[in-house]
Amino acid sequence: MTKSQTKNILLGITGGIAAYKSAELTRLLIKQGYSVRVCMTQAATQFITPLTLQALSTHPVHLDLLDTQAESAMGHIELARWADHILIAPCTADFIAKMAHGFADDLLSTVCLASNAPVNIAPAMNQQMWKHPAVQNNVQTLIANGVNIFEPAAGEQACGDIGVGRMLEPSEIIDRLAITETHSRQLAGVKLLITAGATREAIDPVRYLTNRSSGKMGYAIAQAAQQMGAEVTLISGIGCLPKPSGLTRISVESANDMYQAVLKQAENCDIFIATAAVADYSPVQQNTHKIKKTANHLQLELQKNPDILATVSQQFPNIFTVGFAAETDNLIQYARQKLTNKKLDMVAANWVGKDKGFDQTENALEVLWKDGQCSLPTMPKQQLAKELLYLVEKNYRNKDK
Ligand code: C5P
Repeated sequence: MTKSQTKNILLGITGGIAAYKSAELTRLLIKQGYSVRVCMTQAATQFITPLTLQALSTHPVHLDLLDTQAESAMGHIELARWADHILIAPCTADFIAKMAHGFADDLLSTVCLASNAPVNIAPAMNQQMWKHPAVQNNVQTLIANGVNIFEPAAGEQACGDIGVGRMLEPSEIIDRLAITETHSRQLAGVKLLITAGATREAIDPVRYLTNRSSGKMGYAIAQAAQQMGAEVTLISGIGCLPKPSGLTRISVESANDMYQAVLKQAENCDIFIATAAVADYSPVQQNTHKIKKTANHLQLELQKNPDILATVSQQFPNIFTVGFAAETDNLIQYARQKLTNKKLDMVAANWVGKDKGFDQTENALEVLWKDGQCSLPTMPKQQLAKELLYLVEKNYRNKDK
């Protein structure tokens, strides 16, 4: 890292025994060329003195939210804006809970809320605490909010327990930071269009046909792509997922609406990812009045909906197209067929059925392209979205080579 590329990193230290490793971490960060400012919680100061961190970082340590003197030197908002990265190591169960719920009752938690810098945390706690559902739920919330988790390692703990909960070693944290930094701008300048969720095909003004897709996978990909620097347009079917910040969302209802919206946006996109569970058929007739239940039998005539993904790959051959394949059997075989039949660049295939795929928070994918394949094991959809995008990005860059 040269002088002009110097990155500002805010190292947050919370109150755990692993705080003693933060001194070495500060030294290594500086060695990597980072300009380091340290912010400690009150509890952290019980484990390691601010003086040590001040000497190593060569800057006064930030401790209090309501300290007029400290605020006049560098206020909390200024500190939040100064940081290109935030790294919290060690990060306790308590601080994870605070971040997950948006608390701002000390300097570090306030800076985390006030900054738009990527946040990385290296949790450290007793193995039983790490396993606790409350902690794991909070970690999932953080992942959903885009926080990178440097998962703790297994081993002997200060309390004598053996299990997962030890903070990563400082050199491992440096390696993880380098990886997330490389990925963080990987899709900069890339225009990405994505469909998500289910479509709703009206039968009459009150009834419709739809499916079980929640849109979670598509939303996770849209959010991850945005965090990797892409300009993202999300064409969303029905659902009640909140709009991820920093991207454009166009809400549609039917397959036909989605088709029109996608074709309009496709002219201005580099990568198209179709995660939407588009209804295959829609009623030929849409009654303008509510159908009365007078008949004993009712027949609905359905017609095939346009295939949005196949149309994009046909009409815009320069766009890198990624399709999804949800199957209950012969996963790989059907996915390969889809790759060829729809002339796609990539297919992400997943099992659906009992407890798999739709409306779950975790998923696994088999990703296939013309001359390759990669298995992404079961993990939270947010993490899976990132892993998938790394593969998409690599293949997208190789497309015309
Ligand atoms: O043909 P099948 O529905 O199995 O293909 C699934 C893939 O095609 C998904 O990526 C889905 O978003 C996309 N698709 C589409 N338009 C349709 C049907 C599926 O874009 N009408």
